[in-house]
Amino acid sequence: MAGIIAPSILSADVTKLAADVALVEAAGAKYLHVDVMDGNFVPSIAYGPAWVKQLRPVTNLFLDVHLMAVQPEKHIDALAEAGADMIGVHVEATAHIHRALQMIKKAGVQAEVVINPGTPVAMIEPVLGMVDQVLVMTVNPGFGGQSFLPETVEKIKQLAAYRAEHELAYDIEVDGGINDQTAALTAAAGANVFVSGSYVYDRKDPAAKIAKLLAITA
Ligand code: DX5
Ligand code: ZN
Repeated sequence: MAGIIAPSILSADVTKLAADVALVEAAGAKYLHVDVMDGNFVPSIAYGPAWVKQLRPVTNLFLDVHLMAVQPEKHIDALAEAGADMIGVHVEATAHIHRALQMIKKAGVQAEVVINPGTPVAMIEPVLGMVDQVLVMTVNPGFGGQSFLPETVEKIKQLAAYRAEHELAYDIEVDGGINDQTAALTAAAGANVFVSGSYVYDRKDPAAKIAKLLAITA
């Protein structure tokens, strides 16, 4: 199965966002990764439901919303109403990850659980049966352009093994420091959805970068 490329608009040019989105869609990306940051769970502030609502009518890309906020439950309904196709919630951000995932499903969108580099897979095993996707952070969240952390690769392998053992079907997404080399590395470990911000949107040739990632993860 070909890999799914999810360009992160955190590295796009906000003054020409629609054009930057159209460009990656034409190049073969299937998801658009939207980072929602509250300046609290992570140091940065970025996007929110109003942005998702404006993006929704200008693209057919699957809107993959990565929610980095404390009390994520407060934002789920607004993001779903705005047009998110999937909402990812960090297990570290809530005492009630099961309830948060239930809320996402009840809102009619796909549910994703997210783990930081310092969080073991065991933390999310109880909810793996209820998610559509697992996001393994391959950097500490908060900023684009950071270096990939190789120690996260083992967790991708664990998640792929757990999925086979328990006959589950979740996708495995990776986010942070993904380029041609780390896409190959994480694809070999079992990832099939690849977020890429600074590598794709480096102003040189985003379409060529998408083509390269598609070929590498096919
Ligand atoms: C980091 C965000 C990422 C970010 C990735 O907190 O979750 O989605 O945009 O950027 P790169 O690909 O540059 O590491
Ligand atoms: Zn992200």
